[in-house]
Amino acid sequence: MSASLEDGARLDFVLALRRRWADTVYPHLREAFDAAGGDDTRPPAELAQAVHALPGFGAFAWLERGSQKMLWRAVEDAVAGRPAEADAPAAAASPVQVDPALQLPSWYTDWDIHLQPGGVWSSRASAHVYELGAKLVMMGENDDYSFHRLFAETALPKRDYARIVDLGCGFGKSTWPLKAAFPQAEVTGVDLAAPCLELAAGRAAARQLAVTFRQGDACATGLEGGGFDLVTSTMLVHELPREALVSLLREAARLLAPGGVLAFLDFQPTGDGFRDLSLVEHSARNNEPFMAPMMAMDLVGEAQAAGLVHARWTAFDERGAGDLGQPAWPRRREWHFPWAVLHAEKPA
Ligand SMILES: C[S@@+](CC[C@H](N)C(=O)[O-])C[C@H]1O[C@@H](n2cnc3c(N)ncnc32)[C@H](O)[C@@H]1O
Repeated sequence: MSASLEDGARLDFVLALRRRWADTVYPHLREAFDAAGGDDTRPPAELAQAVHALPGFGAFAWLERGSQKMLWRAVEDAVAGRPAEADAPAAAASPVQVDPALQLPSWYTDWDIHLQPGGVWSSRASAHVYELGAKLVMMGENDDYSFHRLFAETALPKRDYARIVDLGCGFGKSTWPLKAAFPQAEVTGVDLAAPCLELAAGRAAARQLAVTFRQGDACATGLEGGGFDLVTSTMLVHELPREALVSLLREAARLLAPGGVLAFLDFQPTGDGFRDLSLVEHSARNNEPFMAPMMAMDLVGEAQAAGLVHARWTAFDERGAGDLGQPAWPRRREWHFPWAVLHAEKPA
């Protein structure tokens, strides 16, 4: 990324602020909670009341939301200020399949998800802003997309997949690693946001990866039923309202060929009450209205109702081994997402 000195300094500042929030402010709040008795097994409303009464809570909550807003402002300015050639897409081998008749759902356009002004869909610039912002949102830990490579390499059964679809592919950072891990497969990325897909196709071409990008709703893709032996998504599930999640699982089951595999990377409650409360409240503070309801849903049951088998969640350690194969999250001092993978299969 090339940014002016001033823009670069602002980005560095926001990144440092977010890191201190995660590695210093959150642990400080946790220690204060533990020192005050630390009973995180009480009912959610009581637990929330106790946490909100801690002296450091106001600063913790304000910084979480304030630093996210600051992040997008800094990123928007950095993207607006960089030379045009930085954003010029490489010529894609195959054009994006845009659907001019597609109506974006109102639950998608009504909210500025993650507090990104205008969302990821409203202009070409918004896709570039999302691309740069995604690095800072991950606190600089996914600059080379190792997180997504870890998902492709540890969460998916090693098979000679013929056709893979990545639902909610964004600007492609979840899709390219699938093609890199399974080069023999025909890989398709689907997203509602045409600007993200244009960027995804350009970036895939620059990496010499042949991937098809197609505009569509992950809950009703219009793709051939029974045509895919692997259906993935990363960070899509928490962005969908309950009814859409039910449709998503039905659509995934429809897309899968007999014996095919589903793997959706997202978040799950860990059983650590303090940590789970901070994630549920992150849903509100970060403008992610569907995250908390999703975490309260039984998606294993919904996958089974959609006709899938062996449905289960496993914990995902983004800094270490990737998919841990069981729902037990490593305990770390600092704030971090409880990543989890929903696995399921279509009966053979
Ligand atoms: C947080 S991003 C994740 C992108 C990518 N999978 C990744 O891991 O970087 C969520 C993406 O899902 C897309 N999305 C949300 N709802 C969708 C839907 N119903 N159908 C297709 N895409 C959707 C958004 O446009 C956005 O690009």
